[in-house]
Formats: sequence, C-alpha cells, structure tokens
Amino acid sequence: MNSIKNNSLLLSLLWTILLSGLLFLNIQELQRNPIQHAELQAKSLIKSVISFRAWASNFGGVYVHPSNQYPPNPYLKTQERDVITTDGKKLTLINPAYMTRQVFQDFYGKDGINGHLTSLKLLNPNNRPDAWEHKSLLAFEKGSKQETTIETTSSGDRIFRYMQPLYIEEKCLKCHGNQNYKVGDVRGGISTFINLKKSEAITLKSIRSIVWTYALVWLIGLAGILISYRRSILLEIERDQRINLLSVSQNLAQEFISEMSETSNLEQSLQAISTMLEKRDPYTAGHQQRVADLAEKIALELGLSKEQAHGIRLAGIVHDIGKIQTPAEVLTKPGKLTDIEFSLIKLHPQTGYDILKNIKFPWPIAEAVLQHHERLDGSGYPQGLKGKKIILEARIISVADVVEAMSSHRPYRAGLGLEAALEEITSKRGIHFDPDVVDACLRLFKEHGYKFD
Ligand code: HEC
Ligand SMILES: [Fe+2]
Repeated sequence: MNSIKNNSLLLSLLWTILLSGLLFLNIQELQRNPIQHAELQAKSLIKSVISFRAWASNFGGVYVHPSNQYPPNPYLKTQERDVITTDGKKLTLINPAYMTRQVFQDFYGKDGINGHLTSLKLLNPNNRPDAWEHKSLLAFEKGSKQETTIETTSSGDRIFRYMQPLYIEEKCLKCHGNQNYKVGDVRGGISTFINLKKSEAITLKSIRSIVWTYALVWLIGLAGILISYRRSILLEIERDQRINLLSVSQNLAQEFISEMSETSNLEQSLQAISTMLEKRDPYTAGHQQRVADLAEKIALELGLSKEQAHGIRLAGIVHDIGKIQTPAEVLTKPGKLTDIEFSLIKLHPQTGYDILKNIKFPWPIAEAVLQHHERLDGSGYPQGLKGKKIILEARIISVADVVEAMSSHRPYRAGLGLEAALEEITSKRGIHFDPDVVDACLRLFKEHGYKFD
C-alpha cells in the first residue's frame, strides 16, 4: 500500500515538474515576443527611410516651394539651394537628411515609434548623437552592421532601440564630398525608438491566461492521480481481506482435519469444531454447549428417543459453526450492527450447512444447523421455511438458542435474564416457535428446575 502512495506522490511530483517546466518555457517564449516584434518594426522603418532617402539622393535632393513650416535648409551650403522658376516662383532644395528629419518630427513619435538621423561628423549640430548612439556609431566604424539596446524612461516605459549605419555612396558625395568621405565610409546612422509598453501589456495578458490554463490542466491531472490512487487503495484493501480470509479458513480447515483424525468419537469431533469457533468468538464461548444441553433435554421432555436426543445435542454443539466465516470485527463488535454487518451474520446457517453436509451422520445435523434461524411463520432465514417444513431438530434448537442467548450476556447488551427469555418464547409460541417445544422448555425450567451450567 505504501508503494502505491509513494508512486502517486512521485507521479504528482513529476506532473508538477513537467507542467511548471513547460509553463516556464512558454512564458520565456512569450516574453521574447515584444522585442522580436519591435525589432521587425524597427527594421522595416529603417528600410523605408533608406529607400526614400535613396530616391531623393538620386536627384541630389528635390526642389519644393518653401513655407514657414519648411523653410530653406540653412545647413545646405550649395549655390543651387534656392532657385526661381521662369514664372518667378521660389523653389528650395531639400536634401535627404532634412527630409528625413522633418518626416520623423512631423509624422512619427505619437504611437511610440520614432527615428533619428545622426553622425559623428555633423553638418547640423541638432543631429547630435546621444550617448548610446555615439557608442553605436563608433561600433559601426569598426564594422558592426546593427546595434540594439533597451532603455527605461523616467516614466518606467521600456524602449527598444535599434540602429543601422548609413554608408557613403557616389550620389552622397555631391553634398558630403567636401567632408573627406570616400564611397563605403560610414556617414552616420539611423536609430529608432520603439516603446514596448503596449506589446508588453498584451504579452502580460497572454501570460496570465496561459498560467490559468496550466493551473487548470495541472489540477485535472492531480485529480486523476488522486482518483486512481484511491481506487488502487480500495482494490488493495479488498485483496488483503480476501487473502486474509483465505488463510484464516485454510488454517481452520487444517486444524479441523488434524483434530478430527486425533479424535475417534463423533461428539468429540464436533466438540473440536465448536471449540475452534469459540476461540475466535469469545462472546459465544459456551453458548453452543449450553444450547446443546438444553436442546437435548427438551427433546427428552418431548419424549423423543435417547438416540434422537443425542443427535439434537450434536447439532446444538455446532449450530453456529458457520460464524467461522463471519469477520471477527463483526462478531466481536460492541453496539448495534449495520445492515451490511447483519447480512454477513445471516450467512452463518448456510455456511454451517456447507461445512457439515458432506459428513455422514445418522442424524440430520447439517439440516438442523441450516434451519436453526427459521421461524414457524416463515419470518426466519435463510429460506423462510414455515411450520412443519422446518425439521423438528431445528425447531428445538431454535427455542434453546433464543432462551440461552437472551439470558446470557452479549457484546451489544447485558443478559436480559431467564425470565425475559421465557416470556419471549411464550409470547412467540405458535408464531415463531413450535408450541410443543415451547411448552416442554417451560416445563423444564419451571417444574424440573433446569439450570444452565
Ligand atoms: C543635396 C545634398 C545632400 C545629399 C545628396 C546628401 N546629403 Fe546628407 N546632408 C546634407 C545636409 C545639408 C545635411 C545637414 C543638414 C540636415 O540635417 O539637413 C546632411 C546631413 C546628413 C546626415 C546627418 C548628420 C549631419 O551631418 O548633420 C547624414 C547621416 C547624411 N546627411 C547622410 C547622407 C548620405 C548617406 C547621403 C547619400 C545617400 C546623403 N547624406 C546625401 C546634404 C546632402
Ligand atoms: Fe445462530
């Protein structure tokens, strides 16, 4: 039984470890999501910025009508920066960096995404790199192709930052040529900011729901283990009981056989069987003996032959032998019996019959044992026989049994006394008990001064 308990504990432990391990991996995977997502966003942002910058660079910048919002770029030092069309309208040249800066300033930033164009060698001091950008630009000079970091703002938001280098191409030299750049040099970089707040909130939600799911699966698993544990315990107990019963009856049978072979006389043999029962059930010790004696005397009082009376005595000696199969807890239980326990007790006449039926006696001993709880009106057990269907031997033993049982002590009640016992058979005379047998019994006690040993 211990091994089942240990196995169940081990199983629960393994189940818990398995699920918490899987949950851990799952959460780790989920926690990577916001960053992976941010990296993709950053890359696609940079890709599109580089694309429209390249497009503008192809033309050496593009001309637009200047406005208050987008005035001519003071840092663009080309002669052709400002031109006038043939019909007198002003146009100003927008270099790619100016365009990029304006786009970032005016169209990004609101939804937690932004970018920044910067360099170590500035034409426009406003494009100054911050500390991390500065470090990244130095890394680009040494050949790095991308840099990432995560920063926490003063308001507690986590910002994913990603930066890529910008290299000098032929078309850049038109404006950046005088800064001593060669094609392929790192001109600067585009850095991006992605606020992780939103996607981390979403991730937290999914982590929560996954934890609940795991908890549910975990509990279901544990319940399953508990149920199978309880079932196997019950099976084990049942098996133990069966083995126990088996060994008890084996021992008894062996004892019985050896005692039988040692005693030649029939009465002594039956006495031996009776003693075996009384060893298990001290409360009925002597009960069978006294019932046998009283039953024999009733038989003689009824005028039966000595021979027949002797047979009745023998039946009395073993009338409860079937109780050998009743669990000892039931036999010796103090207090009231449950229905189930009582139904176990009720099996004893049939068991006694089964034990005795194959022994050849000159008297119907097995039948008397089988019928000793039958009642005249059919209210007895096991067969519910009525009237003369119950053999005389059994009718005599049942009266002797009740008188003896009521007047002596039982585990569940003190003896009620002989008077009460005689009143009982008198009141049930002709209903439960054979009237002649009852009368003979009353005469024995009242006229012949019969006493139990
Ligand atoms: C039409 C002239 C022009 C062309 C072509 C041009 N740039 Fe610039 N670029 C400028 C000017 C002017 C600035 C500084 C003012 C500003 O921020 O607008 C600048 C700024 C930059 C900056 C920001 C750092 C700083 O010095 O302020 C980077 C990086 C940059 N350019 C890269 C490039 C690259 C790479 C190319 C080629 C793909 C290129 N530019 C083509 C004119 C040009
Ligand atoms: Fe009995």
